[in-house]
Amino acid sequence: MTIAITGSASGIGAATAAALSAAGHDIIGVDLRDAAVHADLAVPRGRAAAIEGVLERSGGVLDGAVLCAGIGPHTPDPLRLIDINYHGALAVLDGLLPALRRGESPAVVVVSSVASTQVVWAENPLSVGADRAALTTALEPAGDYAGHLAYAWSKNALTVASRQRAAEWGAAGVRLNIVAPGTVDTPLLRAGLDDPRYGDLIRGFTAPIARKAEPAEIASLIAYLLGPRAGYIHGSQFVIDGGVDAQVRPAAF
Ligand SMILES: NC(=O)c1ccc[n+]([C@@H]2O[C@H](COP(=O)([O-])OP(=O)(O)OC[C@H]3O[C@@H](n4cnc5c(N)ncnc54)[C@H](O)[C@@H]3O)[C@@H](O)[C@H]2O)c1
Repeated sequence: MTIAITGSASGIGAATAAALSAAGHDIIGVDLRDAAVHADLAVPRGRAAAIEGVLERSGGVLDGAVLCAGIGPHTPDPLRLIDINYHGALAVLDGLLPALRRGESPAVVVVSSVASTQVVWAENPLSVGADRAALTTALEPAGDYAGHLAYAWSKNALTVASRQRAAEWGAAGVRLNIVAPGTVDTPLLRAGLDDPRYGDLIRGFTAPIARKAEPAEIASLIAYLLGPRAGYIHGSQFVIDGGVDAQVRPAAF
């Protein structure tokens, strides 16, 4: 299989690339650096370069894709976070559909977050296509924690947009699922732990399985969802968080 992976240079994306590559698949990595395709998914030109680079290297035929590139809540610029985590991921997702339609048993995994469940779609400004000015105003009350709110909005919107594609993508023969990790030991999480606003909050929250996930544990779920044994799994979000979601919201599923 030929599989494109955004965010392939680090963390979950790198672990996924390693697992799929070890299983014999051809990987086309997309990242800011250390990847086959260098592209900045924060901006439209970078997204177009990512799509073009993948199409060029795959000959226009893809069997899988993993949309993993993203930045964390500690970012100094919450709007850039929304640009990458939501708009960037969706643009690449949609841009790769024609190549995926030509693939063999094609499947896609979008990497969202358990944070997608922390806000309500009807109250998410991205649900009404809020512009930058409206987003800035809506983020103001969150003060120092605007990054976390923007992160939750971006991942909530990414999950919803992915699920909204289930009918069209299923009819096109392309399976599409979402993986929503809790805390995973990656550079993104470590940067959050080093941040004076978020460090203690992250440290203070213990999952029922009282440790962080290893990136390889997320990669193995992604690899399963891309593979033939997951042939009837489509349009679903899989939380992989050591039991946090069950602990916090046992009746919501
Ligand atoms: N680590 C966690 O605890 C955790 C939890 C839930 C969800 N996630 C999500 O998992 C995904 C991967 O995160 P990670 O923890 O492996 O982080 P990471 O920082 O280790 O890897 C993210 C990768 O995305 C790339 N990237 C960032 N901005 C980009 C841009 N503008 N254009 C192209 N590439 C860009 C980075 O260069 C990096 O290689 C993210 O979408 C993140 O939101 C992570």
